[in-house]
Parts: sequence; C-alpha cells; structure tokens
Amino acid sequence: MSNVKDMRIFAAEQIEVPDLFPGILKNFIKEVIRRQPQEQDQVSFSRQYFEDLLKERGYFDAPVREKVEFTTKEFYLSHQLKFKETYKMGETIGYGGLSTSRKCYHRLTGEVRAVKVTKKEDLEYGERQKLLEQIEILKELDHPSICRVIDIFEDKKKFYFVQEYLSGGGLFNSMITNVGFTENASAQILKQVLSAVAYLHSKKIAHRDIHPENILFESNDALNVKLLDFGNSRRMGENEAMHGVYGTAYYVAPEVLVGNYTEKCDLWSVGIILYMLLSGKPPFNGTSDVQILEEVRKGQYEITGGAWDQISDSAKDLVTKMLTSDP
Ligand SMILES: Nc1ncnc2c1ncn2[C@@H]1O[C@H](COP(=O)(O)OP(=O)(O)O)[C@@H](O)[C@H]1O
Ligand SMILES: [Mg+2]
Repeated sequence: MSNVKDMRIFAAEQIEVPDLFPGILKNFIKEVIRRQPQEQDQVSFSRQYFEDLLKERGYFDAPVREKVEFTTKEFYLSHQLKFKETYKMGETIGYGGLSTSRKCYHRLTGEVRAVKVTKKEDLEYGERQKLLEQIEILKELDHPSICRVIDIFEDKKKFYFVQEYLSGGGLFNSMITNVGFTENASAQILKQVLSAVAYLHSKKIAHRDIHPENILFESNDALNVKLLDFGNSRRMGENEAMHGVYGTAYYVAPEVLVGNYTEKCDLWSVGIILYMLLSGKPPFNGTSDVQILEEVRKGQYEITGGAWDQISDSAKDLVTKMLTSDP
C-alpha cells in the first residue's frame, strides 16, 4: 500500500467519520499500514479492527461499516488523456486557499484556457467531499453568465478544472479603479449576475460565495461578466435549510452567520455588490472581519447622502429589497 493519502480518504468514507476526524485519520491509516504492511491492491479489515483502533484514540461512538476494504485503483476517475498531454501549463493567474489558477494552452488548437489546480494532499476529508460535490455541480452548469468548465482531469496527485479563460479581470479590480459605476453600467452587470443566480437557484444550487473577485469580465471591451468559483456551492433538497458558515465577510448574509439559511443568501451578496457598484463603498465596513461581521449582524447601513443623491429611487429601492435578511 503506497498511497497513504487515498487510503485515508477511502477509509474515511468507509467509516463514515464526521469531518473532524481526518486529522487523526492520517496517523491512523499510517498505523494500519504499519500493522499490515503487505503491498497489495486490496486489503480488508473487520469492523472490530477499526473500532478497536478508534477506541485506542478516544473515539468510542464512530459508526463503522461491517467490512472495510481498500482498493487503491478505484480512487481515480478514468480519463483517456492526462492534463499535461492535452494542455501546456501557463502562468499563474490566481491563488486560493486550496487551489491555484493558471492559464493553459490547448496543445492541438492553441486555445487559451484557465485551469484551477487542486492538490489532493491539501484536502482534508470534508474538503475532498466538497470538491467531488462541486464536480457534480459543475458538470451540470450551462449558462452564458457562468464561467464554463470545459474539462475535468484527475491524476494521482491533483484535480484540474479546465475553464474558459476570462481575460477582462475581476469585478473587484474594476470597482477599485472605477470608483462607482454609472447606474446604467451597474444595471447591465447586475442583470447578468442575477440571471446566473436565478439559473442556479432554479436547479436548487446555492453558490454561497458571491463576491466581486468571483465575477470576471469576459474581455476588456464590454461589460459581459461571468460568475465562477463553485468551491462553496451546494445542491439543496426541497425545503432544506443550510447551516455551514461560508462566504466572505463583506458579502455574507446575516442569516448565514446565524447558521440557518437558504439559497436566498446569494441575493444578499448580490445586493452588497450592487450597493458597492453604485456608491463605491461597502455598506458594512470595519477594520477587521470581526468588526465587519458585527456590522452585518446589526444590519444598519446608509443609503442617503454622498453618491446616493445622484442615484434613482428605483435603484435604491432594489438595494433595500436585496439587503433584507432572508428576503
Ligand atoms: N476562468 C478564469 N479566467 C481568468 N481568470 C481566472 C479564471 N478562473 C480563475 N481566475 C483568477 O483566479 C482567481 C481565483 O480563482 P477562483 O476560481 O475564484 O478560486 P479560489 O477558490 O481560489 O477563490 C480569480 O479570482 C481570478 O482572478
Ligand atoms: Mg474565488
């Protein structure tokens, strides 16, 4: 058994451990390997064996399946060609907590694309589950205002999400350089974002991390934007409420902070973006995330004076409607 990481993830699936387990699972699997060192593709363990091991580490109630089997082979989604055979890797265009985005070039056509690369070793069990869930969601998405994922590769060490390359830069940068878009430009951008969000919600998908760095301009010469980054997105059941706290301080909805919310939390985030497009400032501000979140909880913001004097009542009315907790 050479692949400790994959065994760890597979073991986690088999034991149905809660998310807080993966830290201990790593050591735990190493120990399994130490005790059972044969190099073979398939190894089975009894439930008792796992329960004993877990108990030794102070976990008494973990549900373990009858029989725990590892196969190293079944971890890899099959793919005819490897990423590197199909694309030439280019320069880095973005860093995130779990992944790096880079430009890449199709070897046959020369077409420029973007690829988001995630190292498996950086993923804890819960994160890997989220990534697999994300793949299922991405496969289903097809909308003009959502960045298209063209291909997904997986090899021993990494996942590669190949996407269309959006050359116009992030909405965030444009906000900083433009300081207040015109009402007309704001409306054009908002319409596209809302259409993407409506599409997602019609499929019962919540994005949960809408902010201006996840909205990119398709090119420099028009206001066409696309939403991307489905790293926190989630497919919901009928009438299901969500509880996990995700998002980015300035844009997170108050009901998310309370830990009981629906896909409507995305509309709040879009409302914040609209507020910022029109006025050039965030409605809830502070010098730290804690302070910003405190303001979000209070929910009080200014929509008069300064830039707002030039803005139409209907635009203000829309901002107010969107910045309503659980609209
Ligand atoms: N398809 C793309 N075209 C152009 N730039 C991109 C693309 N995808 C990602 N980027 C750049 O990389 C950054 C991070 O990508 P994102 O998917 O949001 O990952 P993260 O989960 O790290 O936030 C983006 O904000 C953007 O600047
Ligand atoms: Mg992002």
